Amino acid sequence: MLPGFQTGYVFAVVFLGTLELPHRHRHPVFETGASGINFSGKGGVGKSMTSAMMAVSMRRKGYKVGVLDADITGPSIPKLFGVHGPAMGTEDGINPVESHTGIKIMSINLLLEDEEAPVVWRGPVIAGAVKQFWQEVIWDDVDFLFVDMPPGTGDVPLTVFQTLPVDGIIIVSSPQELVGMIVGKAVQMAEMMKVPILGIVENMSYVLCPDCGKHINVFGDSHVDETGKKYHLPVLAKMPLNPEFAKEADAGMIETFAGDYLDGAADAVAKLLK
Ligand SMILES: Nc1ncnc2c1ncn2[C@@H]1O[C@H](COP(=O)(O)OP(=O)(O)OP(=O)(O)O)[C@@H](O)[C@H]1O
Ligand SMILES: [Mg+2]
Ligand SMILES: [Zn+2]
Repeated sequence: MLPGFQTGYVFAVVFLGTLELPHRHRHPVFETGASGINFSGKGGVGKSMTSAMMAVSMRRKGYKVGVLDADITGPSIPKLFGVHGPAMGTEDGINPVESHTGIKIMSINLLLEDEEAPVVWRGPVIAGAVKQFWQEVIWDDVDFLFVDMPPGTGDVPLTVFQTLPVDGIIIVSSPQELVGMIVGKAVQMAEMMKVPILGIVENMSYVLCPDCGKHINVFGDSHVDETGKKYHLPVLAKMPLNPEFAKEADAGMIETFAGDYLDGAADAVAKLLK
């Protein structure tokens, strides 16, 4: 068996906004305290949570799923699944590490001896690692591979689109972002790369009131529906900001999280196989 990817579909999960802070200068998205939830700090928009949860949702539907963590300088996929390296190399290539439910994962964190060690490689080396994750990892018969992209539009997204046969792009946004601008950029990129956009996932869309179940739009009104209409793109899901979700993910237990926020999005992806 040759390494690499034999069959199946590949999706890149992207965010093309400007508001993300660089790595290692992040604050938690919310802090619970006496005053309730405080949104002062801001981390990523939730690409990794979306990539991981898409994989979980597809796996729950019985598909064979993989996640390629293309974020070399800020890998977060292994932590969400609670998996550790080292990934084992064989004559045929590198075996991905399998999660509790059998999701195949490759990430720089699974290859480095010290998971905490910062990766300070230069752009071309980083791009090389992403290429290897595609060409030298034994993905075998994965039906759907989700690629968790780093923030921004640097070398890595370019490498991903030039090296991997990406079948679709999933855009992640949040109500705090200028979603029109993000989607506009993504549409341009998609046209350039000749890759279709599958749709938009709005993360941190609302908070569910623990007392009455009401959806509270903590970030103000969402513009994702109008933006979707404008660009003829489906809104695949609206994920709430849920401290429990963050807690489970933080503990490496995203697979046992009960929420099914991306079930509909997973159905949209699954349709491609039929
Ligand atoms: N729906 C949500 N509910 C609660 N917490 C969330 C939610 N989405 C994301 N988070 C939290 O926000 C933080 C950032 O999420 P995530 O790592 O997925 O963002 P990202 O876009 O991948 O960031 P990066 O740019 O670092 O790759 C994480 O700590 C995560 O636990
Ligand atoms: Mg991430
Ligand atoms: Zn209420």
